[in-house]
Amino acid sequence: MTMSAPAGERAPYLDKDPRRIAGMFDAIAHRYDQLNRLLSAGLDRRWRRVAVEALELRAGDRVLDVCTGTADLAIAATAGGTPRVTVLGIDFAVEMLQLGLGKLRAAGLDGRIRLARGDAARLPCGSGVMDAVTVGFGIRNVQDTAAGIAEMARVLKPGGRLAILEFGEPRMPGLRALYLWYFRQVLPRIGRRLSRHTDAYAYLPASVSAFLSPDELAALMSRSGFIDIRIDRLAFGVVYLYVARKVDEPRRAD
Ligand SMILES: C[S@@+](CC[C@H](N)C(=O)[O-])C[C@H]1O[C@@H](n2cnc3c(N)ncnc32)[C@H](O)[C@@H]1O
Repeated sequence: MTMSAPAGERAPYLDKDPRRIAGMFDAIAHRYDQLNRLLSAGLDRRWRRVAVEALELRAGDRVLDVCTGTADLAIAATAGGTPRVTVLGIDFAVEMLQLGLGKLRAAGLDGRIRLARGDAARLPCGSGVMDAVTVGFGIRNVQDTAAGIAEMARVLKPGGRLAILEFGEPRMPGLRALYLWYFRQVLPRIGRRLSRHTDAYAYLPASVSAFLSPDELAALMSRSGFIDIRIDRLAFGVVYLYVARKVDEPRRAD
């Protein structure tokens, strides 16, 4: 498999047109969870748990899970033992949502987690209504990253918390080379074979390499009104967790 496009051309699978991205996730939905477990050696569940813990949810919190897919992060948000947490999961890929809904019903969680079709760049929620927002491995796919981050800031209450999980690339020299070989050569082959999609799992490493660096994403969050931004490297930098708080309303001078 070749990962490079001719000089001056963008690899076709880096096109983030919303219809193309939604179609790609719809096409791989039936294998999505299985491939997540397999390709991350089961670590993906732990990453979502760590993201939810970082939010320090309180009883009765309303959480928005953007790019919810098959709802694994939404489910993790209700699994932490904090009472009466409710979640709205938003995604534009209908097949992913259908599978998520099946999981919610099977787990008896459909009363606490609601799923709806929507675009991260135009969230179907009012302003200042959410206590926390989560995004798991989704922000990289949003065509206009700045619009996506700005929308998350808009829907959060002042002081509300944001947790973003996104793939990265380890920096440690030997490990980096080994991981990039796995990520760019092995993973796309396994993904293609099991999902039967020609380029969804080539898009994954290519889109991670082309995405904003951790510092650039943190700077974007800061420009959108997030403060106390923390960047944690998980699994040596295979995944990054960004945790932040929406700035409080400025105090009025009396
Ligand atoms: C890699 S999956 C992640 C799913 C889930 N958050 C998880 O942790 O497994 C990315 C999801 O983001 C969704 N997505 C990408 N761009 C989106 C956008 N602009 N609006 C809504 N959903 C989007 C895709 O449809 C897909 O279901």
